[in-house]
Amino acid sequence: MLTVLFAASLLTTSSLAGPISDAGRSLSGLVDSPALFPRGNGCSASGNLPTSCGNTTAVENLCCFEHPGGLLLQTQFWDTEPANGPADSWTIHGLWPDKCDGTYDSFCDPSRDYKDISQVLSSNDASDTLNFMKEYWLDRDGDHDKFWKHEWSKHGTCMSTIKPTCLSDTEHGADAAAYFDTTVKLFKDLPTHKWLADAGILPTDNQTFTYDALAEALKKGKGVSPRIDCKDQTLKEVVWYFNVKGSAMAGEFIPIDAPEGKKGSCPKDNIKYTPKSTKAKGKNPKKGKKN
Ligand SMILES: *[C@@H]1O[C@H](CO)[C@@H](O)[C@H](O)[C@H]1NC(C)=O
Ligand SMILES: *[C@@H]1O[C@H](CO)[C@@H](O)[C@H](O)[C@H]1NC(C)=O
Repeated sequence: MLTVLFAASLLTTSSLAGPISDAGRSLSGLVDSPALFPRGNGCSASGNLPTSCGNTTAVENLCCFEHPGGLLLQTQFWDTEPANGPADSWTIHGLWPDKCDGTYDSFCDPSRDYKDISQVLSSNDASDTLNFMKEYWLDRDGDHDKFWKHEWSKHGTCMSTIKPTCLSDTEHGADAAAYFDTTVKLFKDLPTHKWLADAGILPTDNQTFTYDALAEALKKGKGVSPRIDCKDQTLKEVVWYFNVKGSAMAGEFIPIDAPEGKKGSCPKDNIKYTPKSTKAKGKNPKKGKKN
């Protein structure tokens, strides 16, 4: 089915970039030009579409314009109790479509709560994405598939541009595959650990950091300020904010500063950035509430 779409696209486009996706599914990587996707339903005008949350008049085609969840959050964990994922990388929490005012819808379409995300990804040519997720998108209690299902049903099903009606691919769960592809692709471009390390900020038990030092290092990395969250004094989560021009599957993510009042929960100084390696692995004693 995809082959047909791409072949047809090639006929009408001179500047096709070719498959660039290392996130697995060629669909999200190939169609870097939002004009190509999804075909035949108005996205060809997406070059003139406003950026999400930036429209001044109503936009008709919500396959090409993320609405109402036009404020996209790529959330990342630093999990040390138990240590989760590589010692030198943060891990994925999710991709969340908040409304432009920071509130959000959740669990938007129970009919698309797919049971087995691993299976859905495998049957949608997204095995590379799945393999990446097994390393970088991890549940604290080890139930990764359940965690992925939760993120998809709570947040993914609320994205207007990632709906079956926006896809030419009719395979069961193609929308979920597009959500996970998109999230993984975005995460790969947000190396939080590296940006902190570049500023000399490495996980350690014998030093603490100021909020300003963390914020400055991350701003230097991406050019915008994320939300930085702590639990007590310890660094736990970073949230990168975006608007998107065109479909989230194929359009352009535009990084923005965390909105006013969303700078996070860390204290001003004495922030701990705990190494993963020194903590014993094991069951999380407190089962946390999932967002
Ligand atoms: C932006 O587009 C949405 C979707 O059509 C619409 O509901 C909203 O009112 C628009 N915003 C403005 C300021 O026109
Ligand atoms: C501080 O911790 C780091 C890594 O955790 C270690 O490499 C370094 O030797 C320690 N420095 C001191 C002064 O203990």
